Amino acid sequence: MTRVIEVENLTKIYKGNIKAVDDISFDVNEGALFGFLGPNGAGKTTTIKLLTTLASITSGKATVLGHDVSKQPNMVRKSIGIVPQDLTIDNELKGNENIMLAAKLYHVPNHVAKKRVEDLLELVGLTDAANRLVSTYSGGMRKRLELIVGLVHEPKVLFMDEPTLGLDVNTRKIIWDYIRELNKEKRVTIFMTTHYLEEADALCDVAAIIDRGKIRAQGSPQELKEIIGGEVITIELTKERDLQDFFSSIKGVKEVKKLGSTYGIKLGMAEDAIPAIIDGIYARGVKIKALSCSKPSLDQVFLEVTGKEFREEESAEAASRRQDIIARRG
Ligand SMILES: Nc1ncnc2c1ncn2[C@@H]1O[C@H](COP(=O)(O)OP(=O)(O)OP(=O)(O)O)[C@@H](O)[C@H]1O
Ligand SMILES: [Mg+2]
Repeated sequence: MTRVIEVENLTKIYKGNIKAVDDISFDVNEGALFGFLGPNGAGKTTTIKLLTTLASITSGKATVLGHDVSKQPNMVRKSIGIVPQDLTIDNELKGNENIMLAAKLYHVPNHVAKKRVEDLLELVGLTDAANRLVSTYSGGMRKRLELIVGLVHEPKVLFMDEPTLGLDVNTRKIIWDYIRELNKEKRVTIFMTTHYLEEADALCDVAAIIDRGKIRAQGSPQELKEIIGGEVITIELTKERDLQDFFSSIKGVKEVKKLGSTYGIKLGMAEDAIPAIIDGIYARGVKIKALSCSKPSLDQVFLEVTGKEFREEESAEAASRRQDIIARRG
């Protein structure tokens, strides 16, 4: 497996001794959709800036497509696409003009660029709005345009910083489909940051959780969820029966708890064991009154690895911003 991004003991200390990224190491394989998860201020944007040559590394090393980020910044810049957290498109240009401008900056020949611009606009559903000034676009349309501006030179690696931040549910789903298509159909390796845990769960095949500059856990979303011990099946029987030994004997079962006629069964993957559980219960002449299955969420993983609630962190920041606004309104 080719490693497209290699990060070794990367550290960034900003002026004022602010350690935004603290000795992180990870690899991203070719074709991966890598999610970089963390709350506000965790160090996500800083990491993207380091990997895309937009900020200088304090210590450690990073390579992108084999090029050293510090020593060969031009080679890195040529081979990557960036979708920044803050919008950079020009409101006074039309949608298609913005992408043509990006094509010129990347020296894409005019006739090649024209066809790509059409395809890219089509991909994000902006064909009809292509000839309108961006100042007349809605926030979601701007974000969609921003996503394709970084792609006109057909980069092999795309860095996306919070691609769906602030978008409504429908637009987020459209962008998820687009990110999946880029990754699977066009085989672009994607490094994306997000603070929506469910987004990493839905999209990414590998994810790392960063908090206060340090990576706290990494793996597939499934592996991350296994950190908290897997899924729980709750079964209520029509009458009380001792099935403890039977449940414990099923492959994958880690723990069985009984409360009257209700059992809680903790296991790796519920769907693998449900048929055996149901068949075994009926074979013993017992009936099921209710059955439910709870899957662990990445929220719980975050709580496990950082010792605090993901949302709490977010809302603390949000609360302080809100207080600022209230204070300014006076
Ligand atoms: N140019 C800078 N100078 C000094 N400190 C900075 C600078 N940029 C970021 N920081 C600090 O570095 C830390 C990490 O910031 P960063 O922008 O990387 O976080 P983030 O995970 O992208 O957060 P968010 O979810 O809010 O975008 C924060 O404490 C931030 O205040
Ligand atoms: Mg950020």
